[in-house]
Amino acid sequence: MCGIVGYVGWREAETVIVAGLKRMEYRGYDSAGIAVVTADGVVSRKKAGKLVNLETELVEHPLASSHQGIGHTRWATHGGPTDENAHPHLGRTGRVALVHNGIIENFAQLRAELVADGVEFASDTDSEAVAHLLEREVLDGHGLTEAMRRTVGRLEGSFTLVAIDAQCPDTVVAARRSSPLVVGVGDKEMFLASDVASFIEHTREAIELGQDQIVEITPDSVAVTTFDAEEAPVRPYHIDWDLSAAEKGGYDWFMRKEIFEQPKAVSDTLLGRIGADRLLVLDEMRIDVAHLRSIDSIIVVACGTAYHAGLIAKYAIEHWTRIPVEVELASEFRYRDPIVTSRTLVVTISQSGETADTLMAVRHAREQRAKVVSICNTNGATIPRESDAVIYTHAGPEIGVASTKGFTTQLIACYLLGLYLAQIRDAKFGDEIASLVRELEALPAKMDEVLDDLGTTLALARDLMDCSVVLFLGRHVGYPVALEGALKLKEISYMHAEGFAAGELKHGPIALVEEGLPVFIVVPPRGRDQLHDKVVSNIQEVRARGARTIVLAERDDAEAERFADVFLPLPTVPTLFQPVLAILPLQEFACEVATLKGHDVDQPRNLAKSVTVE
Ligand code: F6R
Repeated sequence: MCGIVGYVGWREAETVIVAGLKRMEYRGYDSAGIAVVTADGVVSRKKAGKLVNLETELVEHPLASSHQGIGHTRWATHGGPTDENAHPHLGRTGRVALVHNGIIENFAQLRAELVADGVEFASDTDSEAVAHLLEREVLDGHGLTEAMRRTVGRLEGSFTLVAIDAQCPDTVVAARRSSPLVVGVGDKEMFLASDVASFIEHTREAIELGQDQIVEITPDSVAVTTFDAEEAPVRPYHIDWDLSAAEKGGYDWFMRKEIFEQPKAVSDTLLGRIGADRLLVLDEMRIDVAHLRSIDSIIVVACGTAYHAGLIAKYAIEHWTRIPVEVELASEFRYRDPIVTSRTLVVTISQSGETADTLMAVRHAREQRAKVVSICNTNGATIPRESDAVIYTHAGPEIGVASTKGFTTQLIACYLLGLYLAQIRDAKFGDEIASLVRELEALPAKMDEVLDDLGTTLALARDLMDCSVVLFLGRHVGYPVALEGALKLKEISYMHAEGFAAGELKHGPIALVEEGLPVFIVVPPRGRDQLHDKVVSNIQEVRARGARTIVLAERDDAEAERFADVFLPLPTVPTLFQPVLAILPLQEFACEVATLKGHDVDQPRNLAKSVTVE
């Protein structure tokens, strides 16, 4: 949600900033802007719409050379996506320019105060008020860093702020509260960004910023202090992926590339977590084993796709550990006064690690004295930093707005957590765990098999691209797969898609079924209870009413294939692991439909990758 860049060094600031914004456009793409310090003071350009509009503006109205500047790509909250509301915002005299990610909750009050002081607002944004406050402090004689400190003292809400001052050469200053910001450390140059992808082509050395910290960068230095002016420890780290991970590598979309990266992402997520005896080694579980043995309930909290991963985790964790698991949408969690005690383990799942709803749930859970384990893909993000333990999914950067490898690696992390809990609580015999772990290790090769055989899925996308409604059905862990398949299709193809529990259909939604309606059905592997047979009956129910059935089932499942208009075969795996395979054709189907419809798959309308507002 909004991408921010700051640069100071020896390169042309405009080039670095625009390239950095390009890599972060997935975070928001309503409008974009840049401001640099030149010999004539601060100069800015900003434009509504995608970054390309700003690039055109920069060609038509070039900026003077500069080595110090800030940039922003926006996902609108306060004020629509117009040129005026685009960032950067300038102070009244134009001496200071500022970009902001987040929401200033006491904005109305600040704006009223500034208006009473004679300030005329040029935009409808909350961010502009901060630019005016900051400039007022600077005009009062405070240096930019001190002015920033005084300004953040007036703000309520969440924010990353990055600012330049025409009279403060070779310096960019930023502040961070509950919103992401990292420093990139180069050779005689420094970068600031919401995401390391923005500067990965220049440096792989980064510094994490903590909550409520201010950073001042110059070409040779990084100084981090707290909002209370205390010196803060600097936490450097090395980024373990390179530029190629942040580029499309020959694919038409990041989403498509990320779909095909999943086997590797899954094996990377398993790496180092399995011992020679095929038992689990989760060194990162920094929660005392005695405590984990004593927990009596688990609540999984997440949003969107990550929530669907959580729904699958419930089946697995309950089955292996017999600990009751609830799964809750993060945006609902704290508002229902959940029953959380010191014996509850709260598990959050978040690809970005910055989702505000999930972050608030972490804080709420910890206030209730629960321990929080986070499953996250982004090193050093706010959610893992504020959790008691973290299991990182090693998926590499996920840039397509629709989550794909984020989802499958979240599933792997959930399986690892469930099996680990079963192991330390002696809920399963070692050989049972080892045999499941072997099945996990076999998944990447089976994922490759599915991804190598997507011809039918692509043809199906061509056939169905003009349908107005598509349904997805599943039972047991196939049900969240159906929800996720429908979400993928909705968010990038803008088609009306719904996922239902297959058994629930007859309680209402079956009324939607009419001649020719495409219905995807995820059929579980055979042999477990009557799960398989029940779903085969559900296929017949919809087929009898004219639906066109698209059946995902084990390769040699003749019974399921008999009732399929289109059959999408899957390799055999244990039921609980089938989602890792079954979701692959559904992701590719959504990606292809959206491509054929001419949509921007990586930047679907109204969405942003990292949702840092509640
Ligand atoms: C859908 C999607 C979203 C995210 C959700 C949570 O494709 O990507 O539904 O899953 O916004 O995001 P994270 O995992 O970053 O907390």
